Amino acid sequence: MSSNQDSKFFNVFSLVLGILIAIAIVLFAFARSVGANTQAQHVLADPEYVAQVNDNVRPLVRVAVAGQDNSALTIAAAAGSAAPAGALELPADGAGVYEAVCTACHSAGIAGAPKAGDAAAWAPRIAQGKPTLYKHSIEGYTGQAGVMPAKGGRADLTDELVQQAVDHMLEIKL
Ligand code: HEC
Repeated sequence: MSSNQDSKFFNVFSLVLGILIAIAIVLFAFARSVGANTQAQHVLADPEYVAQVNDNVRPLVRVAVAGQDNSALTIAAAAGSAAPAGALELPADGAGVYEAVCTACHSAGIAGAPKAGDAAAWAPRIAQGKPTLYKHSIEGYTGQAGVMPAKGGRADLTDELVQQAVDHMLEIKL
């Protein structure tokens, strides 16, 4: 009697288990097919992804062979290479440099930078003499207040422009 009940239970239990497994397999297959139609192809067709792959597989070197036509090796100038995207324009004078570069730290006194126009902060620095201020601005230096990056982090600036920016900064009055 009891073994009959046991085997009945076992049959029903197996059936339920089987149905659940079947449902899981169907759901898995469904999810895969949905993903295949959307994700994978979408990613593969993504222009940014394609550009990245092209960039990764680009040959590192080109070898010119003497006596053969090497014209295919000519490196085509990238579009807009005259002014690379994101390149900062070179400021024309001290005020421009100050506005474009130095103001990031010196207008509000960020990271320990002496605030432009703050006479008390500048007095001991000016006392060092302008040549020192120029030198510290151009070459960068680490003082007790913080780190002054060389040319404010803009290595493309000429020394003259940085000096003009220092002059401009010292003329600012609050
Ligand atoms: C990333 C922040 C930052 C930028 C950008 C920056 N400075 Fe500075 N500057 C500092 C800090 C910090 C100090 C103070 C360092 C110290 O004395 O400890 C400083 C100090 C100076 C001093 C005083 C030097 C001395 O001997 O006391 C001058 C002059 C100066 N900066 C000029 C400039 C000029 C010109 C620019 C733009 C071309 C510029 N800074 C851009 C952070 C900056």
